[in-house]
Amino acid sequence: MHNDIKKILISEDDLAKGIKAIGEKITQDYQGKEPLMVGLLKGVIPFIGDLIKNINVDIEIDYLRVKSYDGSKSSGSVNVVGGYVPEVKGKDIILVDDILDTGQTIYKMKKLFLNAGAKSVKVCVLLDKKEGRVLDINADYYAFDVPKEFVVGYGLDYNEKYRNLPYIGVLKEEVYRR
Ligand code: IMP
Ligand code: MG
Repeated sequence: MHNDIKKILISEDDLAKGIKAIGEKITQDYQGKEPLMVGLLKGVIPFIGDLIKNINVDIEIDYLRVKSYDGSKSSGSVNVVGGYVPEVKGKDIILVDDILDTGQTIYKMKKLFLNAGAKSVKVCVLLDKKEGRVLDINADYYAFDVPKEFVVGYGLDYNEKYRNLPYIGVLKEEVYRR
């Protein structure tokens, strides 16, 4: 597994520091509120797990499964898998995902929640791939910028693998030819 990595972009230590900083910001911004954090499965799991331990206000958590990627290319359409959408009416939502790339996933989910009567919707991602952006949407909270490269690890997959790497890295070219 580690053998397939060409280079490490963000180390375990740096991830921990970046996530702590976001947690502190959310803690400040949500004083007196009780946000519902909605994580997008499956890639969000390591990030949201570490993030919530750094948030010091009452929160609720729910999850939603969406699919937009096929291998390493964006398929262009975003689907809610299984049809389950959390109850967001009147709530302050923090939409949490691993990475903001084209913006299609977050854009669609934000719209869905606002249409369903959410009081507010903020976007929190671990990684911001700004050069990949197609839609006019930005993260309210993010820890790291990444270049327009396909990255894996810490929740992010390539064909469902590498989610369990403790760091963010780039795969060797040969992996894509297998
Ligand atoms: P967007 O809809 O294009 O912004 O893409 C968001 C989703 O695509 C994320 O939830 C990821 O699951 C996936 N994704 C985007 N870029 C990468 C990447 O570099 N590596 C792995 N998954 C990615
Ligand atoms: Mg994915």
